[in-house]
Amino acid sequence: MLGNVKGKVTIITGSASGIGMAMAYKFAEAGSVIVIADLNLDAAILVANDIKNMHNVETFALTMDVTNEKQVNDGVAAVVAKFGRVDCLILRTTQTFI
Ligand SMILES: NC(=O)c1ccc[n+]([C@@H]2O[C@H](COP(=O)([O-])OP(=O)(O)OC[C@H]3O[C@@H](n4cnc5c(N)ncnc54)[C@H](O)[C@@H]3O)[C@@H](O)[C@H]2O)c1
Repeated sequence: MLGNVKGKVTIITGSASGIGMAMAYKFAEAGSVIVIADLNLDAAILVANDIKNMHNVETFALTMDVTNEKQVNDGVAAVVAKFGRVDCLILRTTQTFI
């Protein structure tokens, strides 16, 4: 069961598909702002747009390879620039990288 994530800014890595994507829909259903951070930007954009339409929350899609420190730093900086903060970070990429 989710706590109160309404209005919180949540980054979920590896969320353009699979478990991360399912978590993104659940957090959005609970009112969270959702950042889809994934290797696959095209898929991330599709998911972010679908979540926005379905749950009427702000979403943001960006390219992030969690094994690339610069992409992680740049991605987090882009989120802070857009939303002012990061409240929740969920690392949901392939288990090899966690
Ligand atoms: N789906 C299940 O029921 C299940 C159950 C147990 C374990 N797992 C394991 O959990 C892991 C994820 O499973 P899934 O079903 O969500 O997989 P998935 O392949 O559907 O999703 C993984 C996502 O992570 C992204 N990704 C991969 N490498 C990345 C990286 N370096 N940086 C950022 N994003 C990256 C991919 O583009 C993809 O969108 C796998 O290792 C899988 O074996 C899955």
